[in-house]
Amino acid sequence: MVTLKKDHEIQIMKQAGRVVADVLRLLEELIRPGVDTLSLDRAAEDLIRRSGGIPATKGYRVPGIATAYPASLCTSINDEVVHGIPRSDLILEEGDIISVDVVVGVGRYYGDAARTYGVGAISEERQRLLQVTHDSLHRALAVVRGGATLGDVGYAVESYIKPRGFGLVRDYAGHGIGRHMHEPPQIPNYGKPGRGMVLKPGMTLAIEPMVMAGEERVVTKPDGWTVVTADGSDAAHFEKTVLVTPEGAEILTPWE
Ligand code: CO
Repeated sequence: MVTLKKDHEIQIMKQAGRVVADVLRLLEELIRPGVDTLSLDRAAEDLIRRSGGIPATKGYRVPGIATAYPASLCTSINDEVVHGIPRSDLILEEGDIISVDVVVGVGRYYGDAARTYGVGAISEERQRLLQVTHDSLHRALAVVRGGATLGDVGYAVESYIKPRGFGLVRDYAGHGIGRHMHEPPQIPNYGKPGRGMVLKPGMTLAIEPMVMAGEERVVTKPDGWTVVTADGSDAAHFEKTVLVTPEGAEILTPWE
């Protein structure tokens, strides 16, 4: 069931969202050539716990995946789309791109956000992929308000991405969030204007376009989690948790 959050619930979600934002800002300083992704995970978990939060992805189980997710961050490098697992032997190199997804629980409520970072100087192609993916999220946020539909949101992403020559990940979607990391509704990054569920003030949503440079197909690696592009092309991911208001979307994970 899609729930409408009360004001006291939204206040707690803002606390969780602020910790998420703090982590994404900390990583901006830590991400550089030579750093391994497990040390990023350790630094993030440390900040989350010192802030009174819980790293919600750690130990998270998904039907159909045999193992629990083992880390506080998802760190997905270059052709990895989402759910890359931090490892001490994965060392960032100049020119890489890395998508980091972080979900924090505070007082039984959750905040969820992601962004893709460049490692040192990156190519113009990669810069463009990051920019277009970021901007597609903001196109989606711009149509969110009470009375808009999920189709409006998906269309905002799809109609921005496709004419620019990029591929859209259609196998994964955004989601409601609140008392659980994943709540209904699912929020596809494609759709038709006016179709789908009508948004109401008080809904809290994690909107998260995932975009690739090449063909629209993804596969999961043998670890059961890491999703990569089938053709090895680059991928990017931007996500924010927002509150639907009568006038628009209020961002609950303000990392920018
Ligand atoms: Co999410």
